Amino acid sequence: MFADKDISKFDNIETPFYYYDTELLQKTLSICAEAAAPYQFHIHYALKANFNAVLLEQIKNIGFGADCVSAGEVRRAVEVGFDNKKIVFAGVGKSDKEINEALDLDIFCFNVESIQELEVLNELAAKKGKTAQVAIRINPNVDAHTHHNITTGLDENKFGINSWDLSECAETLKASSNLKFIGIHFHIGSQITNLDVYKNLCVRVNEFCAWFEDKGFIVEVLNVGGGLGIDYHHPDNQIPDFKSYFKIFKDFLEIKPNQEVHFELGRALVGQSASLITKALYIKNGKKKNFVVLDAGMTELMRPALYQAYHKIENLSRKLEVRSLESEVIKYDIVGPICESTDCFGKEVEQPESFRGDIFAIRSAGAYGEVMASKYNLRDAIRSVYSSEI
Ligand code: LLP
Repeated sequence: MFADKDISKFDNIETPFYYYDTELLQKTLSICAEAAAPYQFHIHYALKANFNAVLLEQIKNIGFGADCVSAGEVRRAVEVGFDNKKIVFAGVGKSDKEINEALDLDIFCFNVESIQELEVLNELAAKKGKTAQVAIRINPNVDAHTHHNITTGLDENKFGINSWDLSECAETLKASSNLKFIGIHFHIGSQITNLDVYKNLCVRVNEFCAWFEDKGFIVEVLNVGGGLGIDYHHPDNQIPDFKSYFKIFKDFLEIKPNQEVHFELGRALVGQSASLITKALYIKNGKKKNFVVLDAGMTELMRPALYQAYHKIENLSRKLEVRSLESEVIKYDIVGPICESTDCFGKEVEQPESFRGDIFAIRSAGAYGEVMASKYNLRDAIRSVYSSEI
């Protein structure tokens, strides 16, 4: 991602900023689209991973739909030009106002997460004289074997309708004249790197599909969610293994001729295409610890503070020295400027000897980075820079 020519270009740009490699994004999107094409799988990009309009423009142009979790995301998708008929609205807590807005926009489908939500949606659609298409999000109780904070498909999670409530759900659907059931929806978690987990999901999808068909429903859409992980430890391993991922669903789902399979990928599409570029403000060499204090912190990239997530950190200014092995390697705690002890990007990280003014890249920050930035400490809003501009 970083050629030496890029690094010198950063010298004149005020830090911190997100640097987006739009060529890499394009390559990732194309490889994903090519891997899905032989099976006619449909992809809805999960805007929550990154709703930056420049990226969305590229994602729309490749032909993907949009998976949204707020009226704001639905609006953003429409503004960027996604076809309304390729927009799905998911989320465990959609407000009446949000539902009304999405109904007015005639989106493709609501992924419904509770029986009460079905009732509310039916009522609001009736008031507008509309029929809303719905997919039922089922909690399949499949362990995604990922960080517990980003696991969503277990009985104890708040997401989806549990299997023991499905009979009541089916009755509510049948009694709701302003709803059209179109399919079933699942999402078991994020940053999934053990692809076998998806085989277990497929088994459950087949079971639930059969259950609905047995009750007389026509299941047109099998939406298996997202969650495919990226290689945070080796960011130069840029493209996730989309081929193997899609093949699992081809091999393990019992797909009927009238059925479409939908995916909601976020991180796998955008994760590797950005780095947080930041400058060392101060170096503090202590007796017990050495610190590099950066001008970006948890307010710009929250994942390490929130999930102890690993992001590879590179001192770009010393890259050449590392290559020639001239520099001394030192262990630093690499921290931000925020008044919180968890404002730390990495502890005891081996780096070349670093100096005030050195430029650092915090890699794999394209997903759940910029969009999770906060104003805490009344920080200035983080800026974005695109590879196509510099
Ligand atoms: N569909 C649903 C219903 C979801 O809840 C999510 C993510 C996705 C699709 C997209 O998942 P992906 O393909 O990006 O894994 N902030 C956390 C991740 C939260 C994921 C929330 N749901 C992080 O930084 O790791």
